[in-house]
Amino acid sequence: MRSKLVAGNWKMNKTSAEGEALVEQFLDAMNDHVPIDVIVIPPYLSIPRIAEICRRAPVKLGAQDVFWMDEGAFTSRVSAKQLHEFCADYCLVGHSETRGKFGQLEVPETTVGYFAETDETINLKIKKLMFYGIKPILCVGETLAEREAGKTDEVIASQIRGALDGLEAAELYELIVAYEPVWAIGTGVTCDTPEAQRVCSQVRLVLAEVADADVASNARILYGGSVKPGNALELFSQPDIDGGLVGGASLDPKGFADIVRSAIQAGG
Ligand code: PGA
Repeated sequence: MRSKLVAGNWKMNKTSAEGEALVEQFLDAMNDHVPIDVIVIPPYLSIPRIAEICRRAPVKLGAQDVFWMDEGAFTSRVSAKQLHEFCADYCLVGHSETRGKFGQLEVPETTVGYFAETDETINLKIKKLMFYGIKPILCVGETLAEREAGKTDEVIASQIRGALDGLEAAELYELIVAYEPVWAIGTGVTCDTPEAQRVCSQVRLVLAEVADADVASNARILYGGSVKPGNALELFSQPDIDGGLVGGASLDPKGFADIVRSAIQAGG
């Protein structure tokens, strides 16, 4: 039986002091009782301070990205070895924003190179995270143009296949995949629930092909893209949606607590 999971991706928001207050207020709103996996994903600079809280509180720590080399002349990058020092439990890989795709603002081709995440680099990152015992949260999702061209399932399948290339089923039992349609991220437009459920069940089918049936049934598949207190319960009650990856709404401690309560209500 899969348990629910809610992750709050703060993106480039909050100083470390503000982040600390956010987590404390969230814990107060939950009366320190958090019976499911809740992950906070602050910007790198806040990780040491938030890691302190995570050591004593029922929340886990995630990072927003990672580089696949351990050390060396890679200005501005952060390695899994460095994240491991702060006991990061999880790390996002393949978020559409690190792939250079944004819900509202499509960056010109010349700029995408500055973000430059590809299926190949995502694959390298996943392997390195696993080496350090950090659980990757693989984000997949189609752009609006891809959806309108009827390519949603094809795009998702090829992103999963590329990301997991060369990994054995035995390495994938604790896999987390977040289905995040790019057009729903930060736009206030949520993918309607039956369609979110349909794509998440597709993700499970692809995992069964890429790995095996056990991996597919154990993997936690999250929905992300304008999750808010008002839609979380319906989304998380779907059979193939095991929780949410929450951006904007994770910045409000009370709203984030409401979303976590929805996950608990939907089946803990
Ligand atoms: P959003 O972002 O909840 O603000 O749409 C989700 C995400 O990017 O993970």
